Amino acid sequence: MDIQPVVPSWDGELCSVRFDRETGAWFVIAVHSTRLGPASGGTRAMVYPSVGDAVADATRLAAAMTTKMAVAGLPMGGGKSVIALPVPRAAVDGTRWRRILQVHAANVQQLGGTYTTGPDIGTSSADMDVLRETTAFAFGRSVATGGPGSGAPATALGVFTAVRAAVAEAGLGDGNGGVAGLRILVQGLGAVGARVAELAAEAGAELLVTDLDPERCAAAAARGARVVSPADVTRTRCDVLVPCATGGLVDARVARTLPCAVVAGAANNQLADGDRSGAARVLTRRGIVYAPDFVANSGGAIHIVGREVLGWTEDQVTRRTLQIGRTLHRVFADARAYGITTEQAARDLAARRLADAA
Ligand code: NAI
Ligand code: PHE
Repeated sequence: MDIQPVVPSWDGELCSVRFDRETGAWFVIAVHSTRLGPASGGTRAMVYPSVGDAVADATRLAAAMTTKMAVAGLPMGGGKSVIALPVPRAAVDGTRWRRILQVHAANVQQLGGTYTTGPDIGTSSADMDVLRETTAFAFGRSVATGGPGSGAPATALGVFTAVRAAVAEAGLGDGNGGVAGLRILVQGLGAVGARVAELAAEAGAELLVTDLDPERCAAAAARGARVVSPADVTRTRCDVLVPCATGGLVDARVARTLPCAVVAGAANNQLADGDRSGAARVLTRRGIVYAPDFVANSGGAIHIVGREVLGWTEDQVTRRTLQIGRTLHRVFADARAYGITTEQAARDLAARRLADAA
């Protein structure tokens, strides 16, 4: 009898799962591929419906990191960790959080460098400082402790660059990537989304925002953005939808009615369920330009790996991050030339780089 896998297409190298009775947290580390180098990817801390969901998320996110590193031309593999919290992060007190980080750090250390971590949803540079007390394999420490800080500003710059490239591909705006006058809807005003919203507003876009956190919405509204309800994010007419929250926003059903011309954002795994629903094909058929997330959001990885592994300056990181635009133009051109989705064109690019490395 075949064993039902948690994730249907998981072809990764390793996945560790640990429970800590003292804090009630579960810890998952997924190493998808070390073909291009040691696996790297952030630590996500949030509440999951079940441990199975946490494993599914970690493994999918790790696979996305493999593709991201390959497309970005970085000498790293793909991995990810998930800490499944018993209560929302805001309800975890300082002592319990510190213990959670210490357990996670010990798990990372046990892998001996096969996997290096960094910030993601629910973790910050300050948390990387705590991990560093136990393991050297934590990147993105705070600037105050001599680290390069989180990759969020670089991610935001890369996402905005992707928005510009996709807007040009869609023939919107001035045709050259200018977004003045375009209606841009940012979902998720966290470390990345808030900065993307600022960049879009500075460039003259009409800004719409949404977040589950009313305070974040209020702060954006005070700067002139129009707030829409989180439930309306895929129903609100706009030129560009910028998903910067959690993944899984677009399945085939949503794609059939999405009232926008471009989807380009930071969220990892925006296409639901590894796109088994076929959302990318629906978007292509409707002429909606989709900037594959693992290309658009690679600025954070470029920052983390560039600064911590390759010894790049901040300027080098910025230059490399801006090249995301060029990569996307190539992906769009390949998709047009071969009659495939942009998602497939970007995956093919990653597969070629991985094959070359082999
Ligand atoms: P964050 O945790 O700082 O912000 C996420 C925001 O999304 C929060 O304000 C949260 O309230 C909001 N949110 C969550 N669910 C929502 C929903 N259903 N509707 C509206 N808002 C919702 O996370 P961060 O760092 O900004 O990352 C955002 C996304 O980008 C994540 O998917 C992350 O994996 C991805 N990413 C982040 C990178 C980074 O450098 N931080 C790099 C590459 C990808
Ligand atoms: N978590 C971010 C991402 O998904 C940034 C990151 C990259 C963190 C690489 C660690 C390592 O890209």
